[in-house]
Amino acid sequence: PAAAPQLPTSPAAAAPPPALGSLRQRLAAAFQQSLDAAFPSMAGEPAIVNPCNNPKFGDYQCNNAMGLHGKLKGQPDAPKNPRAVAEALVAHLPETGMVAETSLAGPGFINIRISPDWLASHLTTMLRQGISTWAPAGYAGRRVVVDFSSPNVAKEMHVGHLRSTIIGDTLAHTLEFCGADVLRLNHIGDWGTQFGMLIQYIAEKRPEGLNAASDEDVQDLQVLYRAAKQRFDEEEAFKQRAREAVTELQGGRPEYLQACAWQRICDASRREFQKIYDRLGVQLQERGESFYNPMLKPVVDDLMQRGIAEESDGAKCVFVEGAQIPLIVQKSDGGFGYASTDMAAVKHRIETEKADWIIYVTDMGQSSHFDLVGGGGRGHGGGGGGGDGKKFRSRSGDVVRLVELLDEAKQRIVDTVKERRPDATPEEIEEMAAAMGYGAVKYADLKNHRTTNYKFSYDDMLSQQGNTAVYQLYAHARIASIVRKSGRDVSELAKTARVVLGHEKEVALALQIARFSDAVDECLAELLPHRITEYLYDLSTAFNQFYTECQVVGSPEEDSRLLLCEATALTMRTCFQLLGIQVLYRI
Ligand code: ARG
Repeated sequence: PAAAPQLPTSPAAAAPPPALGSLRQRLAAAFQQSLDAAFPSMAGEPAIVNPCNNPKFGDYQCNNAMGLHGKLKGQPDAPKNPRAVAEALVAHLPETGMVAETSLAGPGFINIRISPDWLASHLTTMLRQGISTWAPAGYAGRRVVVDFSSPNVAKEMHVGHLRSTIIGDTLAHTLEFCGADVLRLNHIGDWGTQFGMLIQYIAEKRPEGLNAASDEDVQDLQVLYRAAKQRFDEEEAFKQRAREAVTELQGGRPEYLQACAWQRICDASRREFQKIYDRLGVQLQERGESFYNPMLKPVVDDLMQRGIAEESDGAKCVFVEGAQIPLIVQKSDGGFGYASTDMAAVKHRIETEKADWIIYVTDMGQSSHFDLVGGGGRGHGGGGGGGDGKKFRSRSGDVVRLVELLDEAKQRIVDTVKERRPDATPEEIEEMAAAMGYGAVKYADLKNHRTTNYKFSYDDMLSQQGNTAVYQLYAHARIASIVRKSGRDVSELAKTARVVLGHEKEVALALQIARFSDAVDECLAELLPHRITEYLYDLSTAFNQFYTECQVVGSPEEDSRLLLCEATALTMRTCFQLLGIQVLYRI
């Protein structure tokens, strides 16, 4: 949109002050101080603060009393019961202004009510300094490698790769929001056994041999792959020649690497993958398996020298404690495989990229592989990864053509858009349909726990009701229009006016807005993007309840309530940014 009068998600202002952490982290820090002061012998015992199970009793609760009571037993002056521990914790709580009241419940739970006055100034300050000041603590400055998407050359990118692309992109955005230094890596399969088969097939199809290969040979990679695979499966001798071709390819025999074959196949695949990334607006740095080829032999030699890998049946293996099978880092015929590459990648990412956190987003089927790589990688001096996400199955159980899937989602929403906005230009319709259609696919994926399968349904994901991107985009546009139609300049207003919380629905909305930081922290701490979509849904609900009961424009509280509207819209926009969904201001 030409002119968006609302505040941007990232302020143009100079560097914001360092983040003080999420609401939960701030409360935990306060309780940490009180714990250390009240029970010096237990100092350092982590304070446990969680959202309250029942909002009737409080917003958060501290659950340390029971555990501390047990640990203090037998010490001189030990409190006689958990409630006494809880009372001591409350008595030593430092003055932060955050806590309006506390109450004890059950054996020794401490219920905490956040102060509305504190919330009001927390929101006012955020509107002035930018929402990045709300980033949870613990992520800024960390160097994180996110290995995601990672499809295989010459094979079709399937829904599992789409899921990895969407989840990985959200994790990367969220880490970036928190100030982490993120390297987004596309570990494409450009070096596997399939190449021997493909190259050999091309070479034998043309009497002139490989040097005559052209783009025609790779025009339809699906056709090429299927034909080559069929020969590979049916002809033992061809299979053998294909295997030799891989070894030669990996040894770098020039003609295989020439533009005529390997490069041509990779380029053709790359063009296909890019169509998906363009539609989804995903940025990734390609660093495929081939990148690590020169490192494989030194890495295996090093693992052998250090005694981490050992010879077994002619192969070189890493035996990871507790694992059923070893990680084979070099096969008995001397060849390297997927596992060797991942070992080299771990080393490179830790030593050269200086990663202190490596996140792999790939299908659950590979979890045991990553457990082994993690084990082997740790032995090697670094931390490994962890598997992620279950295999996605499309309804028919086979691979769905992803480009078509995305375009269909977009196409299906076009009529709705035209109906609602008959005045829109074709470009505007295109922009809205893309935001909603592609956004719907992303949202449908992200709102599910990453380890569950879900049923892919256009009707569900494009619904204007319920927890969908379309619903959320409408909700945001509606709030944006309330602000716009007020005729006030909210960025000017934010400089002078303050949020004042009187009505109970105002307080509830303000608390929900402020909980954004908790959602971001949970998303990263557990690598669960659905924490963000859940949060967004609760935020829309809190806003609706506020708007039903509280008049905004024309009320005596107009200034403060406009700021609440703006804070809601800004927080929603930031969530969209984390989820990789294009924001719309007018629908
Ligand atoms: N190319 C692999 C596949 O399609 C995923 C790669 C995941 N990343 C890695 N470092 N192994 O299953």
